Amino acid sequence: MSCEIIEVKQLTKQFKWKTAVNNVDFKIRKGEIFGLIGPNGSGKSTLLKMIGGLIYPSSGDIHLFNNAVQGNHAYFERMGLLIENTGVYPHYSAYKNLELIAISYGIKNRQQQIHELLELVGLDKTNKTKVKNYSMGMKQRLGIAIALVGSPDVLILDEPINGLDPQGISEMRKLILDLNKTGITIIISSHILEELSKVATKYAILHQGKIIEHISKEELLLQCEDRIEIEVDDPKMAVLVLENHLEIDQYKVINDHTIYIYDTSVQSQQITKKLAENNIYVHSISKHKQTLEQYFLARTGNGGETHDESS
Ligand SMILES: Nc1ncnc2c1ncn2[C@@H]1O[C@H](COP(=O)(O)OP(=O)(O)O)[C@@H](O)[C@H]1O
Ligand SMILES: [Mg+2]
Repeated sequence: MSCEIIEVKQLTKQFKWKTAVNNVDFKIRKGEIFGLIGPNGSGKSTLLKMIGGLIYPSSGDIHLFNNAVQGNHAYFERMGLLIENTGVYPHYSAYKNLELIAISYGIKNRQQQIHELLELVGLDKTNKTKVKNYSMGMKQRLGIAIALVGSPDVLILDEPINGLDPQGISEMRKLILDLNKTGITIIISSHILEELSKVATKYAILHQGKIIEHISKEELLLQCEDRIEIEVDDPKMAVLVLENHLEIDQYKVINDHTIYIYDTSVQSQQITKKLAENNIYVHSISKHKQTLEQYFLARTGNGGETHDESS
């Protein structure tokens, strides 16, 4: 049996004038934290609502737990959703909110489970404050507790970090990582890649309703690590010089002409000089610096990365 827990194929949502989600494909494996990153309006909430069973797709398929879900809502019950503060009663306390959800799920012996959930997300079980008077961070915690009622296998969190202060963000991150350690698969969206990079293990970049890139955490971090890029005719020979004459061992041969050097403490001049001394002509050498946000903006069309030409 495959360990893919969610698979969407050619998923599309057409609103009257707007294709909010356009032929999206992806697979999520059990235990992953899948980061959906896209600017505002790129279709994140619409996509997550379809996967969570809140709205119907216009076309395409959703497979949950290895089953096509058309017309069968039982599979959606194994998912917990935090999407745009849906389902919170502002005039009730956190406890009461959770109690109402637990009743609707038909859960008996509710009190203990509700206390456990409140403790898990860090809310005081004796607090009688109405939810409308909660801080943003407390509302998000309650949202997660609500999503966890019924012990779902998958948690869908739509921009859970939105509106939180730095302390709230770091607590939310810890909560997400702790939940994942208990075996829950998590899909989390954000419009800020830096935030997701602390938790997600895989990413999909959504832009104008389409997924424009899939990337693993390792690949992404490598892309955003400072490096020196050199172009030479013969990378194999060049690598010998780098290793033997400059003691550089952190490098990657990218193709027939290009080498990335991750040891940026070495001077560019030193590299070109040493290679030239060994009869290797350097066509170009540049420092490459890119933050996660620049990486994201370069793909979604609003900015770029820096390339300092030097030789
Ligand atoms: N119910 C709706 N009717 C019409 N257009 C909608 C509806 N919901 C979302 N949209 C549009 O679909 C696009 C994607 O929205 P959304 O999924 O909310 O993006 P995101 O969550 O990434 O900010 C936006 O242009 C939005 O205006
Ligand atoms: Mg949204």
